[in-house]
Amino acid sequence: MDHSPSRHGQWSSRLAFILAATGSAVGLGNIWKFPYITGENGGSAFVLVYLLCVAALGVPLMMAEVMLGRYGKQTPINTMRMLAKKAQAGQGWQFLGWAGTLAGFLILTYYSVIGGWTLGYVFYAVSGRFSGLSGEGASGLFGNFVGSPLVQVGWHTVFMLMTMWIISRGVRRGLEKAVTTLMPALVVLLLIMVGYAMTTGFFLKGVAFLFTPDFSHFSETSMLTAMGHAFFTLSLGMGAIMMYGAYVPETTSIGTTSLVIAIVDTVVALLAGLAIFPIVFAHGLEPGAGPSLIFETLPVAFGDIAGGTLLGTLFFVLLMIAAWTSSISLVEPAVTMLIERFNVTRLQASAWVGLTAWLLGFATAFSFNVWSEVTVLGMTFFDHLDFLTSNLMLPLGGVGIAMFAGWCMTTESTRTALGLHQGPWYSLWLFLIRFVAPVAVSIVLLHAVGAF
Ligand code: TRP
Repeated sequence: MDHSPSRHGQWSSRLAFILAATGSAVGLGNIWKFPYITGENGGSAFVLVYLLCVAALGVPLMMAEVMLGRYGKQTPINTMRMLAKKAQAGQGWQFLGWAGTLAGFLILTYYSVIGGWTLGYVFYAVSGRFSGLSGEGASGLFGNFVGSPLVQVGWHTVFMLMTMWIISRGVRRGLEKAVTTLMPALVVLLLIMVGYAMTTGFFLKGVAFLFTPDFSHFSETSMLTAMGHAFFTLSLGMGAIMMYGAYVPETTSIGTTSLVIAIVDTVVALLAGLAIFPIVFAHGLEPGAGPSLIFETLPVAFGDIAGGTLLGTLFFVLLMIAAWTSSISLVEPAVTMLIERFNVTRLQASAWVGLTAWLLGFATAFSFNVWSEVTVLGMTFFDHLDFLTSNLMLPLGGVGIAMFAGWCMTTESTRTALGLHQGPWYSLWLFLIRFVAPVAVSIVLLHAVGAF
């Protein structure tokens, strides 16, 4: 095996990789998306399916992606091409790399708009706009905020520039620096919010909503959404983790690191749920409010507690940073692809990718105001983009990657790469990757098709 580092760089340590991958995984998906889709899909049953998907599909697939990335040490496209050739499998496998790169790029176009929301809310928090805010007041504030196309495009522009700035600086100077101290701070802030939620008198109702199995609001599309979100929240199915895997030193244990990343990611999402739903119930807000959910609930809490201006500011700054460390992983494959194909500099590649993603992002920015009535099948442009990427492209890409790792690579090579020499773990991994992933994803997709 080739032991030299990737031409695009290498993480300085195992911890740096864990932090970067956790930084990619923990993002808007955990704190913004998880609570609102849980609310829309009726709570506990959705949470249960999501947890099952993280354990049975997410962890083994993350191991597969890191492993393929470390073998290939290039962009997902070139990694797949090279490994397919080596395994004497068809060249069609490289399509996975292309589809993944496209999926990441498409997600970035809307991720940047929501990232912009966190920036806007930092300003609201600093300027004391939350103090004494009622549930209704918070909804009004958010309504005005997303209602202005100019404001939306403005913050989207700032967020996109921030992302491209880090990306243009490369692996060590850019990505790694951004994540090392900020993740722990976010968890502390979330714990404070959970503490506040305990004082609302509705904490147990929030807990029950999240954890008492109730399948009455659960539909076939809920199942698909839960599965899609398991991929989204762990950054799987598009090659982001494969790309980060390319920078992983040979000595790192893939199994343990994948497990750590998945656990941290899940805990952060559950903490966000525990912080948000008690506030929702205490203020008579709607759990199924959709993408506005955290922006309509948390400001009420900050407006109510001592030091709320400071804590609110801190919270949205940290959320913005969580979004930032995720957005960079969405475009890293596209940017390195341009570098490898066209021999351009990192700066040029970042500029091109950023510019096109920025322009396409307008469609999402307008989905919440001037184009909010422009719907197909009752869904806005943003809804369709989210559905296509999270619920279709990521699970399908993930299964492709699983099939390649499970069926095309030799078992000797995967066993060695994963470092699972003893015990039943390797057989379990192989079983999940070879059989469970393709079967589960097919069943859920077919069910959802049947539901339409
Ligand atoms: N996981 C991130 C979140 O939860 C989003 C994200 C970053 C992502 N990179 C990704 C999703 C790659 C899918 C694929 O916010």
